[in-house]
Amino acid sequence: EFIHELKGLNNMEKTLRDRLKLKKVIVIPGDVDNDQLIKKDMGKSAANYLKSIIKNDSIIALTGGSTVMEVANEMPQSYTKSDIMVVPARGGLGRDVEKQANTIASVLAKKLGGSYKMLHIPDNIGKEAIATLIIEPDIKSVIDILKKADIVLFGIGRADVMADRRNLPSSTRDYLEKAGATSEALGFYLNINGETVYETPSIFLTKDDLKDVKNLIAVSGGRSKADAILSTCNSGMVDVLITDEGAAYEILKSC
Ligand code: G3H
Repeated sequence: EFIHELKGLNNMEKTLRDRLKLKKVIVIPGDVDNDQLIKKDMGKSAANYLKSIIKNDSIIALTGGSTVMEVANEMPQSYTKSDIMVVPARGGLGRDVEKQANTIASVLAKKLGGSYKMLHIPDNIGKEAIATLIIEPDIKSVIDILKKADIVLFGIGRADVMADRRNLPSSTRDYLEKAGATSEALGFYLNINGETVYETPSIFLTKDDLKDVKNLIAVSGGRSKADAILSTCNSGMVDVLITDEGAAYEILKSC
């Protein structure tokens, strides 16, 4: 708290919250681009925030990625059982296993004394294959739970980095570049104004579903992600942003 005050981070949080029209912004000192350990600090702060809003019967949907992974890692172990359910927000097999939403959901659920479900759906699957999969009872039951999430916790990536990481075909990458795709969050590729320019086929939480979610929590930092974070905040998909000083400083220059 002292460092927060000293570095003027409280002011930064309030200014960002007002300019981005969010419910709450938390800014962690430092820049994850310079020091990967800052990701742990963001994770810890997000875990604390999550604990403050979680109910005994909450349904938490989450995405994969290294930042959301730190939220689960930094969540303290609860020794009491709960009815909390954690589910992956999308399929997303095909990434490093520890950073996959399925794995993170299982880690977080165990930390919270709750339970979890998995979605065994690859990230780059086509629309037809998805249509067949989602009528499978095992998968349908997870999607039904997912649609009732009261908390959605997600990372924000740069569109170019995520398109590479997901091995999107070069024609799609060219299209994304031309369309001004700036960020990727929850499977949506968004331009700087927050408009969707492309959707990953494996999206089960639609924009309409997200409107009904009480707590949309984004965790993302590093000055190289400033435009990406701004773009996702402009989409209306974020209630609470947990970021770092590096990103916050850059965002404030352009909003
Ligand atoms: O969708 C965004 C990515 O999951 C962000 O991943 O936290 O590893 O940069 P990251």
